[in-house]
This record gives sequence, structure tokens and C-alpha cells, in this order.
Amino acid sequence: MTKAMEMLIGHENCTSRSDRWVEIVNPATESVHASVPHADPQDVAHAVETARHAFDHGPWTKMMPSERGKLLYRLAELIAENTDEIALLDTQDMGKPYVHSRDHDLPTCVEFMLFFAGMCDKVRGSQIPLDPSKHVYTIREPVGVVAGILPWNFPSLLAVQKLAPSLAYGNVIILKPAEQSPRSAIRIGQLALEAGIPPGVVNVVTGYGDTGAELVGNPGVDKVSFTGSTEVGKAIMRSAGDNIQKVTLELGGKTANIICADADMDAALASTVLTSCYNTGQICTTGSRLVLHQNIHDEFVERLKAKLDLLHVGDPMDDDTKLGPLVSRGQFDKVTAYIAIGQQDYEPIVCGTRQSNLKKGYYVNPTMFDNVDPGARIATEEIFGPVLSVINFDDEDEVVRIANQTSYGLATAIWTADLSRAHRLAAQVDSGFVWVNTNNYWVPSIPYEGHRSSGIGADMGIEAVESYTKLKNVIVNLDPTPNPWGG
Ligand code: NAI
Ligand code: MG
Repeated sequence: MTKAMEMLIGHENCTSRSDRWVEIVNPATESVHASVPHADPQDVAHAVETARHAFDHGPWTKMMPSERGKLLYRLAELIAENTDEIALLDTQDMGKPYVHSRDHDLPTCVEFMLFFAGMCDKVRGSQIPLDPSKHVYTIREPVGVVAGILPWNFPSLLAVQKLAPSLAYGNVIILKPAEQSPRSAIRIGQLALEAGIPPGVVNVVTGYGDTGAELVGNPGVDKVSFTGSTEVGKAIMRSAGDNIQKVTLELGGKTANIICADADMDAALASTVLTSCYNTGQICTTGSRLVLHQNIHDEFVERLKAKLDLLHVGDPMDDDTKLGPLVSRGQFDKVTAYIAIGQQDYEPIVCGTRQSNLKKGYYVNPTMFDNVDPGARIATEEIFGPVLSVINFDDEDEVVRIANQTSYGLATAIWTADLSRAHRLAAQVDSGFVWVNTNNYWVPSIPYEGHRSSGIGADMGIEAVESYTKLKNVIVNLDPTPNPWGG
């Protein structure tokens, strides 16, 4: 029996008018366990009209910002109270270990909501000093209707990452979760209503990429915030050009995790295990390039293999599991195809402990390729799985060249005991994040912006205000003498 879950438009749980459905496959069992509507152009138009109405005529935009903040606090509480249920939806839909979902993703959702709840009444304009005849001030106004297009790797977390800044700055939103993992976004939308956020402010339409494209192409949408593949990001930016919509893109990555010879090796090893395998490597900031100083190379690889071998690959409901299955058959095919490409030139080092009774499921063991050419396909293209390319370096110039050798510029990690070297390298690597002696550290107060083909605009931090508001200047003439041009 599969469970159908309806999408959310205004205050209504609804199906698609054409009665088409998206079947959701549990990647641990390969069987369909649930379905959601496949929204067609009419459904999307209905969602946009509903959101527009809530923005143009509803109580939302007329509320005291502090009142909006209270509603966001209430939503944070409701997400916390419903953690177990939402975490389970994500695990069943996309295969991440339940304990990671429950103990990391959902608490981080709450942190996000709380940060942006606090931002609601802190947006200010400015006054621009001129001569006494002019009074000029700026206002930051909400953009309007936001479309949040989501991927499947952190379903609830990325739903909240789009929702929280949108609502904090007075916008309304239509979320389009990924077809693989749509249910947690619907549940969070229902909780927004329960928190007292007016109907139409949070809407969730479900479907495949065509539903997302329909939403982005609707001129009633004022801004698109997208996280996903670089290819779709480019298509969204082109489409947004037709309607001059504001766009925020968070795209792929190929993080260089650089270990210098003087690094604290124990700390770097522990962090490398996590950054290369967490979420089964399906993170845009996964440390998929392990860039090792040649003097420590042999010892590091040997000790890393021993640690990776201890990781359990298997049932995501099992508390010991560190790597669940990949999200889908498609992602499994992509990752195994990259392993085959690597195998043409390098011997794969297969690691991990696979649960013995796995008969089904899109499981892939952590896999390393050693002494990889930094220009090789496995070292420059985003694989989005637990596949590590180990690259050697000798000096600082070389490591900077390697770090910047892909088209991506999302994140770099630098492990060194030399503070001056850390800052020298941080200045030269072209990426939105530079972690020094840590990895994948991100909290809502730190803005998230990719360089080069990794993205555009920031979703988090105080800086998100720029992408979720629009600027207005009011120029008041205080001079009573007539304007020489009449009027
Ligand atoms: P995708 O970019 O195709 O899908 C992401 C979202 O965009 C989904 O909600 C999808 O329905 C929607 N979408 C697809 N085509 C669209 C269009 N033309 N207009 C509007 N929305 C559209 O990602 P996919 O195919 O699931 O994964 C492919 C690869 O993308 C992965 O292997 C990985 O390399 C990368 N990726 C990166 C992520 C990140 O966090 N930066 C997250 C997910 C995937
Ligand atoms: Mg795709």
C-alpha cells in the first residue's frame, strides 16, 4: 500500500487537477512507498495566484514585523515538536540515516527558523546625507512571491533555508520540493498554517522538473531561489531573464580538502572521514578532492582507509549505519559510472563495512582513487557520492593551482598549523567558503554564496537580506523655491 500525500495551496490540501501522481521510491528497498501530486500548469498558476493574493491583499505584509517574528518562532517550535515524524519522511524518501536526519537536519531546521525569526524586525533602510534641501531615505521592501526549488539531499533543511529568509523579510513563498523527497516540505507547510501564518503565505507544489520550470516561468513569481545541479541552475537563470526575476542559485561543488604537512593529522583524518562520506557524499560541499602534501601522503591514505573501513554501509534505520543508500537509481547509475571512469586509469580502493543481508537498495561503498591527476574527470566533475580523488602536492603555488582547477568555487578546507600559511592560502583559493582546520561548518548566521559556477547570491546570514528584499529610494525636495523646469 502506498500512501498519497496532497500538496498545499493556500489553506487547502489538494491533488493535481489532472490527477497525475509522482511515485516516491524508498532507495533502501527500491519499492514505491508513497506518492504526491504531479502539479500541471493549471495547478502552478493556481498556486501563484494564491500566493500573489496573499502578498497583495492579505494581512501578512501589513503585520508588525515583530508579530511575523512570533509566528516564525512558533513554527520553529512546531518543527522541533514534530522532529521524529519529519526526520522519518526524509529517511524513507531519500535514504539518509535516520539518526542523522533526527539529530542533525531537524535541529538545524529549528536553528534556521529561530535565526530568521529574530531577523524579522531588524531590517532597516538608511538615510543619505545631502544638502539641507533634500531628504533622502532608502527602504528595504519584500520582493513579493518567491519560488523555492529544492533538491533531495537535505529535503527539510533546504525547505527551511528558503522558507525562513523569505518569510522573515515579508515575502510569500511557493516551495517545489524534489520529486524524490517531497513530503517533509508539505509537512512543514502544514505546520506553518498551524503556527498561524496566514493561508497563501506558504504553499507547496509537487512534481518533476516540468513543474519547477512552469513555476519559474510564471511572471507572477518575483524571485527564484534554487539549490541543485549547475545545469538546471543555468536553465533557471535563462528563464528568469524573460521576466527579470531576482535569482539566487546554490549549485554544485568540488571541494578541495587540503592537508598540509604540518597539519594535526588526527583531527584532519577524523574530519576527512566525515566530509567525504556524510550523507553518502551527497553534499555540494563534500570534500571530494583530498589534496595531500606528498610528505604525509602514504601515512594519511593508509590511516584513512583503516577509518573508512569501520563505517557501516546499510539500512538507514539502523543506528550504527553511517552511509545509507544513494537517493535513487539515477544517482546510483551516475556514481557507479564515475567509479568505472576512474577505474580506467586507477585502481579503486573500496572501503567500508557493508551490512551482510542487503538484497536491494542503491548502496555504494566509500571508494578512493589514489595519485589522481588533478585534471582527470573524477577530480574535476561533481560525482555526488562517497568517491574520493586523492591528489598530491609539493608547494603552496601548486596547491592553489589545484584548488582552483575546477569550474566550481563553493568550498575549500585547509589543514595547517601555520597561521600565516592558512591566511595566505585562504586569500588565493576562489571559493565561497574557506574552512581552516575544520570542514563543513555552517550555521544560519554565516552567508552561503558560491563563486564561479557554484552559484550566485546568498541564502543565509544577515547578507540574505539583499537577495530577499528590493530597494526603494525616497527623495523629498524640501526647497520651497519653484523648480526651474516647472511643475
Ligand atoms: P536537479 O537540479 O535536476 O533537481 C533539483 C530540483 O530542480 C528538483 O526539484 C527538480 O524537480 C527541479 N528541476 C529540474 N529541472 C528543472 C527546470 N528545468 N526548471 C526548474 N526546476 C527544475 O538535480 P538532480 O537531477 O536531482 O541531480 C543531478 C545532480 O545535480 C546530482 O548528481 C548532483 O551532482 C547535483 N545536485 C547538487 C545539489 C546541491 O546541493 N548543490 C543538490 C542536488 C543535486
Ligand atoms: Mg535533473
